[in-house]
Amino acid sequence: MNPVLSHASNSRFDGKVAFVTGAGRGIGRVLVEQLSGAGAKVGVCDLVPERAQASVDAIKAAGGQALALPADVGDEEQVSAAVERLYGEWGRVDILVNGAGSYGAAFRKTHETPVEEWDQVFASNVRGTFLCAKFVIPHMVTGGGGRIINVASNAGRSVSPLLGCSYTAAKTAVIGITRHLSREYAKDGILVNTIAPGPVRSERVAGLIEEESAVELATQIPIGRLAEPEDIVDVILFLASDAARYMTGAIVDVSGGLILS
Ligand SMILES: NC(=O)c1ccc[n+]([C@@H]2O[C@H](COP(=O)([O-])OP(=O)(O)OC[C@H]3O[C@@H](n4cnc5c(N)ncnc54)[C@H](O)[C@@H]3O)[C@@H](O)[C@H]2O)c1
Repeated sequence: MNPVLSHASNSRFDGKVAFVTGAGRGIGRVLVEQLSGAGAKVGVCDLVPERAQASVDAIKAAGGQALALPADVGDEEQVSAAVERLYGEWGRVDILVNGAGSYGAAFRKTHETPVEEWDQVFASNVRGTFLCAKFVIPHMVTGGGGRIINVASNAGRSVSPLLGCSYTAAKTAVIGITRHLSREYAKDGILVNTIAPGPVRSERVAGLIEEESAVELATQIPIGRLAEPEDIVDVILFLASDAARYMTGAIVDVSGGLILS
């Protein structure tokens, strides 16, 4: 993982306030550090309070501004409270990145999937994306616009090579939410896009499969390696930036050529 950027090492997001879910590790952790390094104030949402706090501590140590917002994105009251805390602190929300998304066991067959696993995967990925949008959008409308970036997956663009049907279906739904929101809120200046990463070298993947399987997976990717979190974060930063001002409703594959649209 990259070292935390020193605060305001560039000013691309000066004055912006971001709410990032799943920001305690992996892609989200790198993202909040980089957003802060580019001048944003960051609401760090994670189910695990210690992870949210660790991201906040790293950002503050580098001179940035961040607020730990521990919450389960599938819980309406918790999401509402987290968003209102962020808004209460800084009076605006410009960027929402829906990065939180849980998953079931690797290589689990659909007929062996417990209903609880299905519901949990949908609660974090689908209900969570909906709830965060629901509570952030009114503040974006008041503020004159914003950016929403939903994190889907190659699973939602095709079929997960590792995870079960629940994950493929949930990430497909995230793409549907993106498309719908993009049409609903373009006139409010809110641009909504999806990034669909391929497999990433992350704690998640390391916990799911052996190194041997990761090497085998890499052979299926035309670029020949799994993504690093930074490969994904750079594209999220682009989608959140002024450079993407004419994009909404897009599904951006960052999969090393695994997915061809
Ligand atoms: N890692 C990959 O290979 C990969 C590939 C494609 C897409 N993605 C997607 O990218 C996103 C980030 O993946 P990652 O591997 O970096 O993250 P991850 O799985 O390591 O999780 C990041 C954080 O999300 C938090 N989280 C989980 N459920 C939550 C909930 N209900 N509410 C709030 N926080 C919750 C976890 O506590 C964790 O700290 C996910 O949406 C994932 O589906 C990941």
